[in-house]
Amino acid sequence: MTQLIWESVDPSCFREKVADFYAEEFGRILPEMKRKDWIRWKHFLLWSVGSERALVGWHFGKSAGPDRFYLANTCILPAFRGQGIYQAAMPLLFRKLQKLGFRTVVSRHLAKNWTILHLKQKQGFRKTREDQPTAGGLGTEWSLALTESSR
Ligand SMILES: CC(C)(COP(=O)(O)OP(=O)(O)OC[C@H]1O[C@@H](n2cnc3c(N)ncnc32)[C@H](O)[C@@H]1OP(=O)(O)O)[C@@H](O)C(=O)NCCC(=O)NCCS
Repeated sequence: MTQLIWESVDPSCFREKVADFYAEEFGRILPEMKRKDWIRWKHFLLWSVGSERALVGWHFGKSAGPDRFYLANTCILPAFRGQGIYQAAMPLLFRKLQKLGFRTVVSRHLAKNWTILHLKQKQGFRKTREDQPTAGGLGTEWSLALTESSR
């Protein structure tokens, strides 16, 4: 039986494990490597723990106010996609963030990114603001109150 575990790691451990995969997936270097405030970002590795332990994905984001967390980047490694891992893993991450004191998670997406928008709506996210900056241009902000998701 496979179990999913989010491990909170420091930025250098995260970079060591994820940088090459990130470059393959997004065609550029990890953005945090260019940021002065990278040390303040939170970094998580997603492990599948069964007969073998395997890295299946990651997440990084940062505090966006006293109790808001900005979900900047999530990825499930290609070999593990289409098995419901993202849908199973995000509520586990949200519970972890809730324990850290966050009450709301927010993310920003381009309107054309319908795959992610579909997933966000399934998770209960609601559209909260238009014309927000994203890596690819202006997008929409989506929010989820963690108290609702953890009921
Ligand atoms: C998007 C991503 C996180 C989904 O991970 P996953 O573990 O494969 O997703 P799941 O298996 O939990 O599938 C969740 C739903 O998304 C759908 N889905 C997943 N990938 C899809 C794709 N490429 N196109 C269309 N639908 C897709 C699934 O059909 C499922 O929907 P359903 O339950 O209504 O059928 C993964 O494909 C990924 O890491 N992509 C590259 C990075 C990325 O885009 N990250 C998000 C932005 S930061």
